[in-house]
Amino acid sequence: MDKRKLLIQLDSDPQPSVFDQVVAYDAGADVVLSYGSVTPETVRDKVHGAIFTRGPKDLHRTAIFIGGSNVPMGEKLLAEVCKHMLPQYGLRVSVLLDSNGSNTTAAAAVRAAAHHLDLRSTKALVLAGTGPVGQRAALLLARQGAQVRLGSRQAGKAAAAVESIRAKVPDAKLEPVAADPSGDLSPALADCTLVIAAGAAGVPLLPKAARQTCRTLRVMIDLNAVPPAGIEGVGVADKGADHNGVLAYGAIGVGDLKMKIHKAAIARLFERNDQVLDAEEVYALGEGL
Ligand SMILES: NC(=O)c1ccc[n+]([C@@H]2O[C@H](COP(=O)([O-])OP(=O)(O)OC[C@H]3O[C@@H](n4cnc5c(N)ncnc54)[C@H](OP(=O)(O)O)[C@@H]3O)[C@@H](O)[C@H]2O)c1
Repeated sequence: MDKRKLLIQLDSDPQPSVFDQVVAYDAGADVVLSYGSVTPETVRDKVHGAIFTRGPKDLHRTAIFIGGSNVPMGEKLLAEVCKHMLPQYGLRVSVLLDSNGSNTTAAAAVRAAAHHLDLRSTKALVLAGTGPVGQRAALLLARQGAQVRLGSRQAGKAAAAVESIRAKVPDAKLEPVAADPSGDLSPALADCTLVIAAGAAGVPLLPKAARQTCRTLRVMIDLNAVPPAGIEGVGVADKGADHNGVLAYGAIGVGDLKMKIHKAAIARLFERNDQVLDAEEVYALGEGL
């Protein structure tokens, strides 16, 4: 008889996310073993518990999910989880990183854009591209061959984010731009066909008057669900809504695809025991959803 599908939820927050637990069950996990306040120091024994219990032929029915609101901590937990696997003996389990929904959200935003644009010829501006979601969206766009401007209120912060993406995609067509919402955004937006606003919740980033100066704009995606909107005029539930020739997506509009990608990623974990699902692997799962 097949062993039960166990998802080990490692959450950096004190209370493991209920959202992630519900999605895990809906995506086919039989049991979710949840741990909160997980730090790199407490990862090793949990990984050992996962890999030393079932034999290699059953290890695809155990998997690890890394979540929590602190994305940099999630990245450290992922590195630590991978460090303690023993692939030389077949003793490993698959793992998904989606701290704060960062990977699934960025993947859904870029997939939404790809419904309307050929990303290889797209010129994109990612506003607040320094945060976890913005950096991942910029990475995925660059990987698809888009020309990407990564914006920040601080030019130095944008440059640092660009360098960290370039380390993963050396031939990325990526440039940092200063993009302060209170300043003139027209140089950053010039010639762009796509803008993604990935700013913090409730922060307006792109006024309507500024985006209307950009005659080439075809798609705008606002990931902020908390009023006021990140892109003025975009409705939170917009899903390809036509705003005078520019197609708009709001956070809830993107959320539908994000949920599908999240569930597909959990289901994928239980297919093999050797997968590490981070931004690019999660993006690949969104194809055709
Ligand atoms: N739809 C969904 O399912 C879903 C899931 C996850 C996240 N989200 C949303 O996606 C967005 C991005 O998430 P995140 O975790 O990457 O965001 P974040 O880390 O909170 O913030 C992203 C960036 O916003 C800028 N920012 C912060 N405070 C600001 C302020 N007061 N004024 C102007 N800019 C400010 C900063 O960029 P600079 O300092 O470089 O300017 C920061 O790096 C959020 O709105 C989040 O709620 C949506």
